[in-house]
Amino acid sequence: MTTIGILGSGHVGSNLAQAAIAHGYDVVLSNSQGPETLAGLVGDLGPRARAATPAEAAAAGDFAIVAIPLTAIDQVPVEPLAGKVVIATINYFPQRYGHVPEIDSGATTAPGLLQAHLPASRVVRAFSMINAAEMSGDGHPAGDPKRRALALAGDDPAAKQLVASLYDEFGFDAVDIGGLDESWRIEAGQPAFVTRQDVAELKANVARARRGA
Ligand SMILES: NC(=O)c1ccc[n+]([C@@H]2O[C@H](COP(=O)([O-])OP(=O)(O)OC[C@H]3O[C@@H](n4cnc5c(N)ncnc54)[C@H](OP(=O)(O)O)[C@@H]3O)[C@@H](O)[C@H]2O)c1
Repeated sequence: MTTIGILGSGHVGSNLAQAAIAHGYDVVLSNSQGPETLAGLVGDLGPRARAATPAEAAAAGDFAIVAIPLTAIDQVPVEPLAGKVVIATINYFPQRYGHVPEIDSGATTAPGLLQAHLPASRVVRAFSMINAAEMSGDGHPAGDPKRRALALAGDDPAAKQLVASLYDEFGFDAVDIGGLDESWRIEAGQPAFVTRQDVAELKANVARARRGA
């Protein structure tokens, strides 16, 4: 049995928990306010879900999903995620949360900030470019004309393979767009962001990305 530790249980965390449970995973959910505030969600998700603190969720997961605002990255527990694959759904919305000069300058990216905070983890940007509800509600089997492609980016090949397999299980084709330093190509505002696209369309949209868009 594989357990996914989920940090952030809002729109994204709850929908990915639902998708994970539907595909045979156990999930441990967490948020900033405490496990007791997740009782309703956990009840809805059923016996494969439980709530915990972020540190406990991180420790319990064979791998983790971090689905929190960019501004909360420095609160992510470091030690329990060491050595683990960490999926970052985090996007950069300067209009909402303020500007980060290192992202604006191109020196880093949103998942790059999480990787810098978690130096012993293997961060992969994934599930960042699709609306939360569609993560659990719009997966389709391989070969189905409705099947969508989603991008992933990261610096560790084995971590990216794990995420590509997860995409496939959840009903999406995977497109590897390179390292975390290339992950700005699927950031909010770029052509690939929240676009419904197949593999060829996603690759074309990633190629059309322009810094600062
Ligand atoms: N919404 C989408 O369609 C979508 C799609 C793709 C990617 N994203 C990205 O994914 C991330 C999550 O988006 P969302 O829409 O799910 O946000 P959301 O609904 O506002 O949920 C955010 C979650 O993060 C939790 N959180 C905040 N600080 C935390 C901390 N220090 N430790 C643990 N949990 C913490 C919040 O807990 P409390 O409520 O207890 O504070 C809440 O459960 C964002 O970076 C967003 O840009 C969103």
